[in-house]
Amino acid sequence: MTPRPADAVAIHEAAQLLKQGRLVAFPTETVYGLGADASNAEAVRGIFAAKGRPADHPLIVHLADKSMLPDWAAEVPASAWQLAERFWPGPLAVILRKKVSVPLAVTGGQDTVALRVPNHPVALQLLQAFGGGIAAPSANRYCRISPTQAAHVAEELGDAVAMILDGGPCQVGVESTIIDLSGGQPRLLRPGQLSVAAIEAVLQQTLLLPEAVSEIRAPGMMAVHYAPVTMALLCPAQDLAKLAQTFLDGHQRVGVLAYQQDLPAHPLLVVEHMPDSVAAYAQALYASLRKLDGLQLDRILVEQPPQTEAWRAVNDRLGKAAVAV
Ligand code: TXA
Ligand code: MG
Repeated sequence: MTPRPADAVAIHEAAQLLKQGRLVAFPTETVYGLGADASNAEAVRGIFAAKGRPADHPLIVHLADKSMLPDWAAEVPASAWQLAERFWPGPLAVILRKKVSVPLAVTGGQDTVALRVPNHPVALQLLQAFGGGIAAPSANRYCRISPTQAAHVAEELGDAVAMILDGGPCQVGVESTIIDLSGGQPRLLRPGQLSVAAIEAVLQQTLLLPEAVSEIRAPGMMAVHYAPVTMALLCPAQDLAKLAQTFLDGHQRVGVLAYQQDLPAHPLLVVEHMPDSVAAYAQALYASLRKLDGLQLDRILVEQPPQTEAWRAVNDRLGKAAVAV
C-alpha cells in the first residue's frame, strides 16, 4: 500500500472508507495510528486482525474535540475536563468508565475506555470529516516498533489497510501519556512527552506512578513491546565501547544507538548518533531503531541516555526495546 499525501480529497476518501468499516492509517503528533470506526465492532476487530494483536488489549478512541467525551464516557469527572482543557489537542489519553454503547471490542472487554484528541492537522481533519470516534492503536504489528513515518506503516501493515494517509514524520515520536481517571487516585499508566509534574499541577493531586503499582493494566507496559527483531542491549555509557569491542572481536555485526559516546570506526560497526535534547531524541528514536533493525545486524547496543525525570518516556520505551546489561 503506497501512502497517499494527506490532501483534502484523500482525507475525505479516508473518512468514507472508515464509514464503510475499512481501516485507515493516519498520522498523529505521537505515532501513526491504525484507525477504524470505534462504534463498529466488526471494523474494530479488523484492527486486531491486521496487527496480530490479542483481542483483550484495549484501543484508544480518538475524538475531534473534548465536547465529545460524554458520548463515550459514562461520567466525565472534573479531573478529565481539567486535563482536556489544558492538554487537548495533545499527546494525552485518559481512561474513564465507558458508556454501555461503547463496543467491548474497543475496550478489550473492560468497562473503561481510553480517549484522546490528537494534535495533528491531518488527524483532526479526518476526525471532523468522519464525525465519530476513531479507534486507533499504533499502526505497527503486535509488539513491534511504532511507526513515526508513513513508509513505516507500509512496511508494517502492507495491504491490510485500505489507505495510508501521509502527513510527514510525527513530531513527538513516542506514544501518548496515559492517565487512568476511572476511579481512586489518578494513575500514570504510560509515560509520554507530558511531564508528571505538569499533569499533577493541573490535577492539583499526585499521580500514582507505575513503579508504585505491581499489577499490570496497560499491555504497553509489558516487558517486551516496541521491540526490534535484532537482539538489543541497553548499556551504561561507560561500558559501551568495551562491550561493542567484545562483540566486534567475536566477528559480530554491531549497531549502536549512541547518545554521547564516540566509537572508533570498524567495518562491522554501524553507529546511529542520537540528538542531545530529550524532545529530539524521542522524535528520532523509533526511526533510528527501525533503521538499525533493518541492517541484518547481530546485535544492537543502546547507550543509556540520562536517567532523569525528563527522560522518563524515552527510558520507558528503551527498557521495552532492549535488555539492560
Ligand atoms: O499516542 C498514542 O496513544 C497512539 C496514537 C496512534 O494515538 N496510540 C497508541 O495506541 O499508542 P496503542 O494501542 O498502541 O496503545 C494504547 C495503550 C495500550 O497500552 C492499552 O493497554 C492502553 O492504551 N489502554 C487502552 N484502553 C485502556 C483501558 N481501558 N484501560 C487501560 N489501558 C488502556
Ligand atoms: Mg502500540
